[in-house]
Amino acid sequence: MNLLSIEQSSAQQIDYLLDLAADLKATRGAHKSKPLAGQTWAIIFTKASTRTRVSFEVGIRELGGSVMFLSKNDIQLGRGEPIKDTARVLGSMVHGAVIRTYDQQDVVDFAQFSGIPTINALTDEEHPCQILADLLTIREKLGGWNDKKIVFIGDGDNNMSRSWMWAAKYLEFELAVAAPESCLPSEDYMTHLNAPNVTLTTDPVEAAKDAHVINTDVWLSMGQEGQTAKEALFGSYQVNAELLTHCADDHIVLHCLPAYREKEITEEILELHADTIFQQAENRLHAQKAVLARIDPIDSLLHTNP
Ligand code: CP
Ligand code: NVA
Repeated sequence: MNLLSIEQSSAQQIDYLLDLAADLKATRGAHKSKPLAGQTWAIIFTKASTRTRVSFEVGIRELGGSVMFLSKNDIQLGRGEPIKDTARVLGSMVHGAVIRTYDQQDVVDFAQFSGIPTINALTDEEHPCQILADLLTIREKLGGWNDKKIVFIGDGDNNMSRSWMWAAKYLEFELAVAAPESCLPSEDYMTHLNAPNVTLTTDPVEAAKDAHVINTDVWLSMGQEGQTAKEALFGSYQVNAELLTHCADDHIVLHCLPAYREKEITEEILELHADTIFQQAENRLHAQKAVLARIDPIDSLLHTNP
């Protein structure tokens, strides 16, 4: 079993993982099952990370596995060894891989050539693990998403917004994406998504109207550092006290973090909603443990070296 994207998942899979995550969270420290016992997992990151790296390292260990962290500079990938060769080597030695990189195709290729369970820990295309944690947080805070309006405000054409759009399609909640015109997904992408419950707007106030969840992210994703012309487009897309006056009374604010205060969110609003935002961060651990626990050990054993 792989987790490569929300696009390739389904409502049933997401519901199952969230139920399991809630159970693992409630019983943390008490559950006896160690589904990754005897396994070694590789965490291969070519981008920085705090939450994802730590939550996967802790989660794998709590499920009984061992873990090795490999930055691209630790391995020959950083010197140009192809992903498919890296995958074939690791696939003969480790039981699963968690990958953070730029190109989604690299994660797809890794899964194919390694033959071991592969988890997308963020690409330029999607951030599926984050969305599972975000959905778990919405369930905990609001009881679910039926009849709720969820808003993504920021770069509407980045990994977070795309994962949100696919989640909205499968779970059938109302999602409004607010972004500058040039940072909205293309018409072709929206045709491919084919989700009438996902709407796009350049007007953040229109998006925020009666919203129950306001979700934001950095304006410049990893790899886009220094794109000041792009960043300058986002001036009116800040999550601040004035914007939140348009939301439903019982709204929550989410941020996948790291946050750049006084850019995509004000210090005031981040601190006001810190309980939710750091609960969201903690939920990375529980959601990912659910993903890891679902890995079929028999499938993994097929790839175990003596
Ligand atoms: N939200 C998230 O993925 O955080 P890191 O980049 O710190 O892993
Ligand atoms: N869109 C952000 C998400 C960080 C967790 C990025 O890719 O940098």
